[in-house]
Amino acid sequence: MSDDSLPSPTDGRPGGPVAAVIPAAGRGVRLGPGAPKALRTLGGTPMLVHAVRAMAASRAVSLVVVVAPPDGTAEVKSLLDAHPLPERTDVLVVPGGETRQESVGRGLDALPPGHEIVLVHDAARPLVPVDTVDAVIEAVRDGAVAVVPALPLADTVKQVEPARTPGGPEPVLATPDRSRLRAVQTPQGFDRATLIHAHETVTDDVTDDASMVEQLGEPVVTVPGHEEAFKVTRPLDLILAEAVLARRRLNDGF
Ligand code: CTP
Ligand code: MG
Repeated sequence: MSDDSLPSPTDGRPGGPVAAVIPAAGRGVRLGPGAPKALRTLGGTPMLVHAVRAMAASRAVSLVVVVAPPDGTAEVKSLLDAHPLPERTDVLVVPGGETRQESVGRGLDALPPGHEIVLVHDAARPLVPVDTVDAVIEAVRDGAVAVVPALPLADTVKQVEPARTPGGPEPVLATPDRSRLRAVQTPQGFDRATLIHAHETVTDDVTDDASMVEQLGEPVVTVPGHEEAFKVTRPLDLILAEAVLARRRLNDGF
């Protein structure tokens, strides 16, 4: 999709500049010991820088709010100074919280007026292609209040009863129809007021922002996700991410 295909702010739909909040305050426990996950490098560049660039690659995005590890805001600021963005994109850095939800909330608190569409994007998804970002923005501009990029599942999924002892057998309760299940990614895109209302209202533990909007009873829709928007969670994901970067470099002719 080209940048020109994005609607202009004057065509009657919610347009104008888009802000992206990037929660990056997690430790990355499942990745193993080391620096906070967002600061680990891929192809020599911190994961967070890849994620910020992926948002700034969309011409619609004029502000990126990075939610940094609470003890790492100065380090994140100097990292971002060392990796400048296109001139059209401003960056803010704020300290994160104990949970992803809290971190996103701090990012939302820091949003200045003037961005009616807000993306929330995991720093742990550094390689999302710009076409996916633009598809999410376009769906919000077309009137959806909440949009998630989603992919069909490769594995069959079982619902289980928790094991009595850690690592013990877990009784299987059900096998949901795989064809109706989707794995969802980020960036998730929102009408700003709806997302802020959801964060003010929903206090349950959730793992994504769209589920908070679902709890308000508001409609959430999917657009096609992308396999390169996978989340770097475990050590094997680092190997995959390096391979994707190597393939891109090859294709770019470097
Ligand atoms: N995140 C955050 N603040 C937290 C926890 C998570 O900003 N208190 C962010 C992470 O930095 C990441 C995104 O939320 O970009 C998705 O979370 P996840 O992949 O679970 O990352 P971590 O929580 O860092 O990893 P783990 O759960 O393995 O510790
Ligand atoms: Mg986590």
